[in-house]
Amino acid sequence: MKLEKNVLKAMNEQVNKELFSSYLYLSMSAYCESEGFPGCAKWLKVQSEEENDHGMKIYHFIHERGGRVELEAIDKPKTDFKNLSQLFAQVLEHEQKISASITALYETAIKANDYPTQIMLQWFITEQVEEEKNAHEIVDLLKKVGDSPVSLMMFDRQLGARVGK
Ligand code: FEO
Repeated sequence: MKLEKNVLKAMNEQVNKELFSSYLYLSMSAYCESEGFPGCAKWLKVQSEEENDHGMKIYHFIHERGGRVELEAIDKPKTDFKNLSQLFAQVLEHEQKISASITALYETAIKANDYPTQIMLQWFITEQVEEEKNAHEIVDLLKKVGDSPVSLMMFDRQLGARVGK
């Protein structure tokens, strides 16, 4: 079963969104690194690598289905942030946008009766629940932490415990 044109187009767009996510989180990681939050920098770098994996998952799937991957330019990510609270609120907001994009892609696959794409996307739907939950928890935690330097240091240490590849 060949990929329908509009499904292929939406999949290529999703590859770009995942790679942009990777770029955005790397930019956020660089900000944290230079602001003296190595733990947050590590968490975001691991997240950046995961986003690259997400993009590649779709990239390989397009090829498996005999489609053509067409890479587009990746937008410049934001490089400056007010503080950690603002930064992680933007992580959450971004993940909510990605969830909406995955849902729209899934609906496109339903309309095309494209069952393999629907099955592949189910992994992403589950993943987005997890990603939004993680971002929510961090945003909530930061509300409790406030501006106290000692609490921020402990928060940073906690995020630095995230295990990467
Ligand atoms: Fe791959 Fe965080 O969405």
